[in-house]
Amino acid sequence: MELNERLLRVLHPFERFQLDELPLTLLCLSCGLLWFAWRRFCEARLEIAQRLIVERELERSRQELRELAHQRIDMQEDERRALARELHDDMGQTLNAIKIEAISIRNASAGDDDVPQEVLRATRSVIEHADQVYGVVRRIIGRLRPVALDELGLAAALEHCVDGWRERLPKTRFDLRCEGTFDNLDEPRALALYRVVQESLTNVARHAQANRVDIHLRQSADPACVELTIQDDGCGVNLAALPHGFGLLGMRERVDALGGCLDLASSAHQGFRLIASIPLPLQSGA
Ligand SMILES: Nc1ncnc2c1ncn2[C@@H]1O[C@H](COP(=O)(O)OP(=O)(O)O)[C@@H](O)[C@H]1O
Ligand SMILES: [Mg+2]
Repeated sequence: MELNERLLRVLHPFERFQLDELPLTLLCLSCGLLWFAWRRFCEARLEIAQRLIVERELERSRQELRELAHQRIDMQEDERRALARELHDDMGQTLNAIKIEAISIRNASAGDDDVPQEVLRATRSVIEHADQVYGVVRRIIGRLRPVALDELGLAAALEHCVDGWRERLPKTRFDLRCEGTFDNLDEPRALALYRVVQESLTNVARHAQANRVDIHLRQSADPACVELTIQDDGCGVNLAALPHGFGLLGMRERVDALGGCLDLASSAHQGFRLIASIPLPLQSGA
């Protein structure tokens, strides 16, 4: 009993806290917290489900955009091919006919003193002009449809394309390195890589004022992809304020449509670097 009395005496000052009600209070608080946690859990689950739906939707429209880009590029290439064929067949043949006619007039009037010098001069001029226009048509056909790509494969077509730029920009040094064999590369990939080089070198000529341009094409095994790097030592550009243009956009579209990625690196006076990497199909031996 003494112990009991002692205990009562010790606990007496704490009676005002009404600690006997504490368990009940704690229970109510726990229930409240539980209910709150459950509500948050349900809200979070709903948010995640909604986010998943939006992400799926986004991925679907990205895929649609990729397919659209693919289609647009195919149509553009078909159009270019048709134009190149028409230029080659119609215009080429017409020019050839003009030249043959002019040559036959020249041959027929050679040694004939009755034919005025004016006619002979005009005939020579027609032949020269026909040759010039034929050269221009050939150049346009080459840009529209890289014939070397069909006949000789990607590496040789790039060599041909770079040679053209070496002639046009004799002060700039172009180095092309192709590591690996690209003969088995399928047409869409080969054409995309060719067009990226074509547009990049046009950009070098238009914007870079470069002394040196390195073009490096290589295959990587893991992951299986083909990587193209084009780097110049020109004036570069601030990528954060990149002027709007269709060249880079078109390159990105082509690379994206094949599931690849295009990276740019540059800053003012630091040159310009472009890396395009395109995955290879698994079954391809390229
Ligand atoms: N090699 C380069 N060196 C410096 N600037 C470049 C280079 N390539 C592209 N640019 C910059 O990027 C811009 C966009 O290029 P692009 O999309 O090809 O359009 P465009 O050539 O018609 O201007 C260019 O206007 C130029 O300022
Ligand atoms: Mg351009």
